[in-house]
Amino acid sequence: MSFDAQLQVFRARIEEGLKCYIPLDESTPDRLQSAMKHSIFAGGKRVRPILLLAAFDINPSLNDPIPAAVALEALHTYSLIHDDLPDMDDSDLRRGHLTCHKAFDPATAILAGDALLTLSFELLSTAYRGEPRIACDLIKELSYAAGSGRLIGGQMEDVWLDKSQSREAGSLDHLTRIEDNKTGALFEASLMMGLILADRPEDELKIAKKLGVNIGRTFQIIDDILDATSDDQTLGKTTNIDSKNQKLTAVTQYGVDGARDEVDQLVNEGKKLVKSLDQNNEFLMSFLDYLKHRAN
Ligand code: IPE
Ligand code: IPE
Ligand code: MG
Ligand code: MG
Ligand code: MG
Repeated sequence: MSFDAQLQVFRARIEEGLKCYIPLDESTPDRLQSAMKHSIFAGGKRVRPILLLAAFDINPSLNDPIPAAVALEALHTYSLIHDDLPDMDDSDLRRGHLTCHKAFDPATAILAGDALLTLSFELLSTAYRGEPRIACDLIKELSYAAGSGRLIGGQMEDVWLDKSQSREAGSLDHLTRIEDNKTGALFEASLMMGLILADRPEDELKIAKKLGVNIGRTFQIIDDILDATSDDQTLGKTTNIDSKNQKLTAVTQYGVDGARDEVDQLVNEGKKLVKSLDQNNEFLMSFLDYLKHRAN
């Protein structure tokens, strides 16, 4: 199967999974349900659950990876809803639509994010209750990645940066730490969860972690480049917002050309990691190129 066809197959399975697990019972207020659906069905790229499925497929087990893929996308979507809020990045456009707080209101958006975050763990604990060790490992992996030392901690440092230090030379370590936490953590979790579901050994999990860090950095650097060089319509989100918010980004630290060089180097290193994880994995190889050349 071609890379594009495989990508479509993964995406279709994820969309099906979302449609199956996101309808909520009638005890959830209509407005809250609408806000959750507004954001999760707005058409994201689904790259994290795709990575989960690709990692699972290396040596699949009998476990169903779809509920975990849905949990991961729900958690990612919560992080986007909160990231866009007026007191965070203050962004109006996301996934080609109004951000959740613009389409609804900030209080509803905060609650829709909270509800998607909570739903992730409800899903993992119910879908895998027949395999308690797998359920616990998945919950541990995702909660750690989403928590105060990783995604939320990275977001904290991203929004609350000592501006006097932010643009000085020497803050590259700081930038890398923010990238690894706010973005890399979920990419690590994507690969790790795929391998946990497939019951793979520790040495593979270690390589997957390194590959997750690599993909996270690459992904965030490209995101920073696109913020500075693309337009709202192509990107589907508000552009030039990083400079408006005086963010520390790959563009402020390396410049656009320097950031592109960083991406080239990271993708080369990423391909070596893919090889050591699975010698002939053409999908993951091409996936790194897809991320590098993405326009949104
Ligand atoms: C955006 O993630 C947030 C970052 C970590 C840069 P995506 O670019 O994966 O957003 P969607 O899910 O496709 O909308
Ligand atoms: C956000 O990084 C990463 C998250 C954890 C949501 P950005 O703030 O750069 O993501 P975008 O550009 O709004 O998607
Ligand atoms: Mg942000
Ligand atoms: Mg943002
Ligand atoms: Mg960005």
